[in-house]
Amino acid sequence: MKTGHDVLELSPVLPVVVVDSAADAVPLARALVAGGIRAIELTLRTPAGLAAIERVAAEVPDIVVGAGTVVSPEQAKQAADAGSAFLVTPGCTDALLEAVSATGLPFLPGVSTVSEAMRVAEHGVTALKFFPAEASGGVAYLKALGGPLPQLRFCPTGGVSISNAPAYLALSTVGCVGGSWLTPPDAVAAGDFDRIEQLAREAAALR
Ligand code: 3PG
Repeated sequence: MKTGHDVLELSPVLPVVVVDSAADAVPLARALVAGGIRAIELTLRTPAGLAAIERVAAEVPDIVVGAGTVVSPEQAKQAADAGSAFLVTPGCTDALLEAVSATGLPFLPGVSTVSEAMRVAEHGVTALKFFPAEASGGVAYLKALGGPLPQLRFCPTGGVSISNAPAYLALSTVGCVGGSWLTPPDAVAAGDFDRIEQLAREAAALR
């Protein structure tokens, strides 16, 4: 994998995952793989995030693990050091863009407006996260954005589910969608990895 465009091709759905314990991340990632999903975005929203990335990278070779919710330059470096194969940010500042680029890893910077997308594209970055997708205008907005900016490709995330994912995936500017629906907090807390595998199987069948 070299660029964010490669990240967009990993899976029709990029699971956005929050874990409170790094140990949970390993069976969770294995359940995703069993369901046919070969990529995971482990967020840095909890203190367990970095350790979870390290463990999945070391113990689940069949999944590509990236770091999500990277919001500071320090986190970009920490996520790279933990073994992330890619980085995802919810939004983008100049300092953050510089820091994620400096890691040398593929990354998807988050944008939600036409001007933000144009600013990031000025830096040569053309694979982006569209966040928060539904709250920002959803499929109709993203379709309109593709009119003047057809060279950009997106991973819409935020409010995406098994029911609205097909409409996003039908857009020529969408490589994959992201979402937390594959790993519901109650299933993670209960260790219900069969349910996660089933949700992954449905998501993998989207394309
Ligand atoms: C993210 O950080 O990408 C989102 O919180 C995921 O949004 P969702 O929970 O609506 O899928």
